[in-house]
Amino acid sequence: MRNKISIIGAGHVGATAALWIMARNLADVVLLDVVEGVPQGKALDLRQALPIAHSGIRVTGTNDYAETANSDIVLITAGLPVKPGLSRDDLLRTNFKIISDVVAKVIAYSPESILIIVSNPLDAMTQAAYRLSGFNRERVLGASGVLDTARFCGFIAAELKVNVEDVRSTVLGAHGVAIVPLVRATTVAGVPLSRLLSAERIEALIQLTRRGGGEIVKHLRNASAAYAPSAAAVLMAEAILNDSKQILCCSAYLEGEYDVDGCCLGVPCRLGAAGLEKIVDLQLAAGESSALQLSAAAVRAQCGVIGV
Ligand SMILES: NC(=O)c1ccc[n+]([C@@H]2O[C@H](COP(=O)([O-])OP(=O)(O)OC[C@H]3O[C@@H](n4cnc5c(N)ncnc54)[C@H](O)[C@@H]3O)[C@@H](O)[C@H]2O)c1
Repeated sequence: MRNKISIIGAGHVGATAALWIMARNLADVVLLDVVEGVPQGKALDLRQALPIAHSGIRVTGTNDYAETANSDIVLITAGLPVKPGLSRDDLLRTNFKIISDVVAKVIAYSPESILIIVSNPLDAMTQAAYRLSGFNRERVLGASGVLDTARFCGFIAAELKVNVEDVRSTVLGAHGVAIVPLVRATTVAGVPLSRLLSAERIEALIQLTRRGGGEIVKHLRNASAAYAPSAAAVLMAEAILNDSKQILCCSAYLEGEYDVDGCCLGVPCRLGAAGLEKIVDLQLAAGESSALQLSAAAVRAQCGVIGV
């Protein structure tokens, strides 16, 4: 039997995730949205691309959660995107309502699934999904650090004019502005970044990474990033479905790891068939550790507002 991924929210991120899944022949896809016609139309469009993409997956568009039954993975991308004029608090409260509605319906039909949360604010929404689902923490992950790391590596590669594949890094912490890039663990073809760039240039690239999503919103005005975020979420799904044991930075519910207890935060996670198989301990330096505590405090404040 083929694997099944349901995507809740057939907007920019959700539909593009379906496209990545199709391109990789990863799993059958059910695209679901509250708006009638949107998931059906996008699914039809994707189905017409299958022969061209040499993909044999099944794609369904629906407004009915019954179609999502027995999904292996559910990607949750429903919710408002970051937009100019929308306050962080409004985003938090509105998306919490949406996540509450979505999670209740998802778990009723797919009680054994693994949830990958994409909706923002990412770490707070992951924590909300963790609490509301009642799933163990192994089955609720947030798509955060894969994208933040990709952005940082991309800026480094552009600055040094090297192939992005040669750049390795790890970006921990809350998704968005409270990221914690581990500079000492960042290398270019094995050479530490600190030997290749000045501290000022590295800091400038970190700031670019922090603003990576915001810059895109400035250009698009009424939409936010979709290609890279959906690629990141699909990479996580792929690691789980293929039981690849790949270590990817994801938001996970911490129970004392990294001196953070009772809070979802981006950390290196070994992903496999069970979802989160292990949180990898990187033994942070003092400065990194205090930055991560600040990042956790930002997530805790958001979780406090929505009571999760
Ligand atoms: N984690 C990340 O790295 C990352 C990156 C980009 C975007 N995001 C977030 O992903 C979310 C989606 O972004 P987008 O650009 O696709 O937005 P979008 O507006 O294009 O799509 C969101 C979709 O969710 C649907 N929706 C709303 N309420 C719903 C509900 N109750 N049930 C089912 N569907 C519902 C809407 O109808 C819409 O089609 C946003 O919260 C955004 O901030 C996260």
